[in-house]
Amino acid sequence: MSVRTVRVELGTRGYPIRIGPGLIDRAGAELLPILGAGRSVVVSDTNLAQAGWVERLVRALDAAGIAARTVIIEPGEGRKSWAGLERVVAGILGGGADRRTAVVALGGGVIGDLAGFAAAITLRGLPFVQVPTSLLAQVDSSVGGKTGINAPQGKNLVGAFHQPVAVLADTDALATLPAREIRAGYAEIAKHGLLADERFFAWLEQHGPALVAGDVEARVHAVVRSCEIKAAVVAADEFETTGQRATLNLGHTFAHAYEALTGYSDRLLHGEAVALGLVQATELSVRMRFLPADATARVRAHLAACGLRTRPTEVDPAGFAADAMLAAMAKDKKAVAGRLAFVLLRRLGEAFLSRDVPEPLVRALLDAPA
Ligand SMILES: NC(=O)c1ccc[n+]([C@@H]2O[C@H](COP(=O)([O-])OP(=O)(O)OC[C@H]3O[C@@H](n4cnc5c(N)ncnc54)[C@H](O)[C@@H]3O)[C@@H](O)[C@H]2O)c1
Ligand SMILES: [Zn+2]
Repeated sequence: MSVRTVRVELGTRGYPIRIGPGLIDRAGAELLPILGAGRSVVVSDTNLAQAGWVERLVRALDAAGIAARTVIIEPGEGRKSWAGLERVVAGILGGGADRRTAVVALGGGVIGDLAGFAAAITLRGLPFVQVPTSLLAQVDSSVGGKTGINAPQGKNLVGAFHQPVAVLADTDALATLPAREIRAGYAEIAKHGLLADERFFAWLEQHGPALVAGDVEARVHAVVRSCEIKAAVVAADEFETTGQRATLNLGHTFAHAYEALTGYSDRLLHGEAVALGLVQATELSVRMRFLPADATARVRAHLAACGLRTRPTEVDPAGFAADAMLAAMAKDKKAVAGRLAFVLLRRLGEAFLSRDVPEPLVRALLDAPA
């Protein structure tokens, strides 16, 4: 199978996303024309090291004359912290870095966000490469240049826009990713179909279950289409000023609240929370009279067919109290002066940001979720 390219069109900050098998082993040849010979620091975690990917990437970079050092941290969202950042910056500087030293993130969204932010601030900005290895990172977090860490005050509250110079999404890496992480990442793929492309969503209804089960061709197609959709939105609204980029957060006002109420724990992965949120955002769009009543059942049936939980009571039999959900939602970054913002669907395949959803409607939905 051949490697595909999606370009993120951002003028002088534009870059290619390469998608397909074998890219980690070929990383040197892929990156030499972009970085030139020199030094690099591969930032990754112990899961990627154990699966052999760190060694393979380092070997490929070294062979091309991009001498690679490594900074390996423990896996997990907990490392996306001030302490984790300090550790990565120290690792980059410690081995001797100059303005042209490239930071290469090899891992899921945690490594990408953390290494990307370290690259943004070390020596006031180092060239940055994303080598996403989780499905979520390949279809979402590695594209678009948002980097950052969590603060004690909340998730993703400290960060910077720092676009990579290239993204290498090696679909072979997904072979060592746990099945639960595949399903969680899949929710962001379904999100892209819902917010931008009904035909793609219909394709997913046909091929999604096979994709989750391991169908490589389906994975490549879905990663390509997801990256195309995200790249187009990012190119139109890089710094989230027009509201267009915010549509990529379909389902996320709900998702972030479910995550907060489950303590950002293994009980509910981010992508799993997104699946719950997509169902509720669809139902909200139904109740706002944009979508026909059967839309919610269609979205739910698809996510369930891909092995995702779609009802809050499947996560906690007691459900989630509306008051606690609303309090969590008020901390959403899209909220302005206390007014909640929701991404709604005007139809399947077209999303928009609304600040006009009446709170009683939200409360009624939270009291009796779809
Ligand atoms: N910057 C953005 O635009 C953006 C967008 C969405 C999400 N995010 C962030 O992404 C993070 C979630 O990313 P994630 O879902 O990738 O989680 P993650 O980075 O924690 O990775 C999930 C787990 O899979 C492991 N793993 C990754 N690739 C593997 C592989 N190929 N083989 C074996 N194990 C592998 C990791 O070690 C980790 O244990 C969150 O912090 C979220 O805030 C950022
Ligand atoms: Zn998400």
